[in-house]
Amino acid sequence: MKIIGVVGAGQMGSGIAQVSAQAGYHVRLSDVDMARAEKGKVSIAKALDRLVQREKMSEDEAAALLNRIEPVAGSSSFADADMVIEAATEKEEIKRAIFLDVGKVLRDDAILASNTSSIPITRMAQASPDPKRFIGIHFFNPVPVMGLIEVIPGLATSDETLETVSDYVETLKKEIVYAQDEPGFVVNRILLPMINEAVFVLGQSTANIRDIDKGCRIGLNHPMGPLELADFVGLDTCLDIIKVLYNTTGDSKYRPAPLLVKYVEAGWLGRKTGRGFYDYSGPVPVPTR
Ligand code: 3HC
Repeated sequence: MKIIGVVGAGQMGSGIAQVSAQAGYHVRLSDVDMARAEKGKVSIAKALDRLVQREKMSEDEAAALLNRIEPVAGSSSFADADMVIEAATEKEEIKRAIFLDVGKVLRDDAILASNTSSIPITRMAQASPDPKRFIGIHFFNPVPVMGLIEVIPGLATSDETLETVSDYVETLKKEIVYAQDEPGFVVNRILLPMINEAVFVLGQSTANIRDIDKGCRIGLNHPMGPLELADFVGLDTCLDIIKVLYNTTGDSKYRPAPLLVKYVEAGWLGRKTGRGFYDYSGPVPVPTR
């Protein structure tokens, strides 16, 4: 495997591009237009600058890594890719449209993977050119820092695809957890109910934002409290995932917390919009409740 296409130059797609280029792959980083794809590359360049300043990477290494990332618009330049990883918005119709588009140019032996956080792989494989070559590769945010990748074969995924993807993950020097194609896989199935419950706790005024996060940070030794983490992941993404858990299982224990729905409706999506459970407009995040 030499050439990897990444669809979506946001936080996750850029991270996937960065770690893939770091492992020596040539990466085509695509978004709906060239400006967004280039913006993704700029954010990678900034992250690499910080690593160079902290003497964790040499200037030459950073330059060589950046050289291996080529921003592109749309899917037409994936014709020679060995694998394309979709890391677009967590909306099934958007992902399906991307799979159909990539399918028009993808080589007959190339793999198509989705970085979905929770949408069933077997179902989405129906929009891919070949379900045998379709698989879930779930990265964690921030991708360059987090050491885990979940690999999720669908019902029709071939052993060969699974093996190739496992080899790819190994070259990234990350640990693999294999998960069955069940909603939320392993980690998000556990994490999202925790985040959702934290929002219920907040909505019932059991404690304020600072104390809910402090409780979990200190009481559970988590690096971030659940509300900080929700802001970090994006409240819209959290809501999308909990909705998938709720809709695919029909189990009321996954019903979205009303306050989470309200925040998303208000456009308070977390760090990326400057406000979520915390306000990010000043030098340090300030709890909003
Ligand atoms: N590339 C390479 N290294 C990077 C980097 C990048 N883009 N960004 C940060 N780093 C490195 C820094 O150099 C630093 O390295 P060092 O410890 O050796 O000096 C290290 O990462 C930590 O960075 P910072 O010092 O800037 O930040 P913190 O120490 O405050 O840690 C954090 C930030 C790593 C985000 C930590 O708070 C954390 O682990 N939070 C929890 C994250 C988490 O749970 N993620 C999973 C979310 S769920 C998910 O993604 C699934 C999805 O489907 C929803």
